[in-house]
Amino acid sequence: MIENTPDIILNHVSKVYANGTVALEDVNLVIQQSEFVSLVGASGCGKSTVLRIIAGLGTPSSGNVELNLKERKLSFVFQDAALMPWANVSENVYLPLKLAGVPKKDALVQIKQAIARVGLEGFENNYPRQLSGGMKMRVSIARALVQKPDILLMDEPFGALDEITRSNLNTELLDLWHQHHWTVVFVTHNIYEAVYLSNRVLVMGNSPGHIVADINIDTPYPRSESFRTSTEYNKYCRSINEYLRVK
Ligand SMILES: Nc1ncnc2c1ncn2[C@@H]1O[C@H](COP(=O)(O)OP(=O)(O)OP(=O)(O)O)[C@@H](O)[C@H]1O
Ligand SMILES: [Mg+2]
Repeated sequence: MIENTPDIILNHVSKVYANGTVALEDVNLVIQQSEFVSLVGASGCGKSTVLRIIAGLGTPSSGNVELNLKERKLSFVFQDAALMPWANVSENVYLPLKLAGVPKKDALVQIKQAIARVGLEGFENNYPRQLSGGMKMRVSIARALVQKPDILLMDEPFGALDEITRSNLNTELLDLWHQHHWTVVFVTHNIYEAVYLSNRVLVMGNSPGHIVADINIDTPYPRSESFRTSTEYNKYCRSINEYLRVK
């Protein structure tokens, strides 16, 4: 059997911010290609810090990070949609390509595809203020997809949305993941969302942030709506909840 190189490895990663806050202590993880892994934990436990370190937006104070980026590309979806208010949907999606020096005319097909993939055809010329929260989040996802990532890091992308929109976007995200075989690292507060989406859920504890449990969600994909009401699903959610309550 040919073993693929893992996409992400963190070895004994700790992070102390300049003000002395110890955000992470001895975080170890290995994420394989095409895995969907969620990080759950209470506010302030260091989820975003882990994601930012993986993205290279922050450096570990000790320990090291190994990323399989030779032939693989990484994109980041931020917690708030973080769109440019003065730019329409197309221009917002074009931004990462523009920053990479791709002329607009060469990017048009990619922009169109990314917008279509998140179901926003017809809204290309709308400005962020003319979109709902869920639509803004889709634009933000399209902006990550336009870069044709292999590894997608998502920091609470659906945190600000109502349950119905969130659950629709969860289904769409799984469809896209199924088509593209991305490696996804997904940060959320929401245990139910984490269980529904993931191959594995990493549970983080607080003060300082560390991983307290690594739980395989063995239910096969595609996961239908009935998974959300199954005993199996409830069992996973309860077990994660217990890990979160243990201090
Ligand atoms: N730039 C920074 N400087 C100093 N401390 C920071 C900085 N960023 C984060 N922290 C601290 O590090 C800890 C972890 O923060 P982090 O943002 O990673 O948590 P989180 O799990 O993502 O929280 P949330 O769920 O609220 O987004 C917190 O105590 C936070 O106050
Ligand atoms: Mg965060």
